[in-house]
Amino acid sequence: MIGLLIATIYIMAKLIFINTKEEKELSDGSPLVECCEEAGVPFACTEGVCGTCVVEVVEGMENLSDFTQEERDFLGDPGKERLACQCKIKGGCVKLIF
Ligand code: FES
Repeated sequence: MIGLLIATIYIMAKLIFINTKEEKELSDGSPLVECCEEAGVPFACTEGVCGTCVVEVVEGMENLSDFTQEERDFLGDPGKERLACQCKIKGGCVKLIF
């Protein structure tokens, strides 16, 4: 009898917080809010209005969702900063500072 081994490898997206040296795994397409909140990023409105949750993306900006209108309104032209309450991770790794 021939056995069949099926291995499923789940590759999770990863957030790395540079200033706290903390790493968190999350599913592709997940919002950043929960992981960032657990890591200590402060949140207030969670609607992209107050700017409390601004983070600097050091690496992996391409792995985040597109800028929302709320981010454009608050941050101006896309740069290194994002509003953590507005972002989702598409996959891969993102390194940030808060
Ligand atoms: S918590 Fe207010 S903009 Fe993100």
